[in-house]
Amino acid sequence: MKLLGISCGRDMGNSEILLKHALKAAEETGKAEVELIRLHDYNILPCDGCELCTILRVQGKPLRCKHSPTDDDFFQLMDHVKASDGLIIAAPAYHLLPPGILTVMLNRVHCAGFYNGTKINEERSRVCASIAVGGTDWTNLTLPVINLTCTELCGSKMNLVDQMLAQDAPAIGSIAAYPEALERAALLGRRVAEAMGTPNAEVKYVGDRQEVCPICHNSLLELRGDKLYCPICNLSGTASTENGKVSVHWEQGVEMSRFSPYGAHEHHTRREGTRARIAANQEKITELRAKWKDYLTPVKPVHE
Ligand SMILES: Cc1cc2nc3c(=O)[nH]c(=O)nc-3n(C[C@H](O)[C@H](O)[C@H](O)COP(=O)(O)O)c2cc1C
Repeated sequence: MKLLGISCGRDMGNSEILLKHALKAAEETGKAEVELIRLHDYNILPCDGCELCTILRVQGKPLRCKHSPTDDDFFQLMDHVKASDGLIIAAPAYHLLPPGILTVMLNRVHCAGFYNGTKINEERSRVCASIAVGGTDWTNLTLPVINLTCTELCGSKMNLVDQMLAQDAPAIGSIAAYPEALERAALLGRRVAEAMGTPNAEVKYVGDRQEVCPICHNSLLELRGDKLYCPICNLSGTASTENGKVSVHWEQGVEMSRFSPYGAHEHHTRREGTRARIAANQEKITELRAKWKDYLTPVKPVHE
């Protein structure tokens, strides 16, 4: 079975070294045929929000992107993802987040999920794991965003098997001198190899990081009104403290998550309701929009 590693850091940098340890360990289980991609080798045009893929989906037509497969390397990259049974994304923290190239890719996934009319994960299950690395301990949003990207590339199924974070490794390749992190990466690779081929419904998370959400395995909380929410899964809950230990009591389970069939249906229903209201008011919207057209001239870059 195929295990694809995508590195979003520097060539032979810390992300790549950890990823290579994971891939090597996976290969040594005898269960994985491994492949490495450096994301910055791929030219990926950003989504410009044209909504072509969304409109085609609403019309029940095969999805397409305004960028054709020859415009950039995005669809080639997706072909590698689609051919994989396992996926590991390794990325550094850039301003608390993974580098922009990862989110540029993520924003295009809408159309690729249905590339050639086939949903990315319909024909086979795919498991994933995340590796994050930071130069300091300012890494808060890096793993959650990598995990979200993994989820989208698993056809919006929460098939995360493991995740790891290595901090305080700023200089290029310095992680090579952190045996604990290297061993942890190898363990992650073995776990992914073991999990590959598991049917979607049976994929189990075996990570050991402190987490708050039992679905996406992240440790972030969002305060909205008088409730706490998982910003990734959208479940609501309340927090309590007992013997100095904070815990969150979730009001819903996995079946109500953003990534469940229920969540997908809610999202679709809400979006279509909004679109219907917009369509009914299109003339008014066009008129209101026109009023703002000539207010301010955008400052363009100057090129010699
Ligand atoms: C633009 C930029 C922003 C960075 N922001 C952070 C940050 O917010 N937190 C952090 O811990 N490290 C930050 N770093 C350091 C990198 O995460 C660190 O050097 C990492 O090891 C790079 O991984 P790589 O070797 O795989 O490229 C930043 C580095 C760059 C270049």
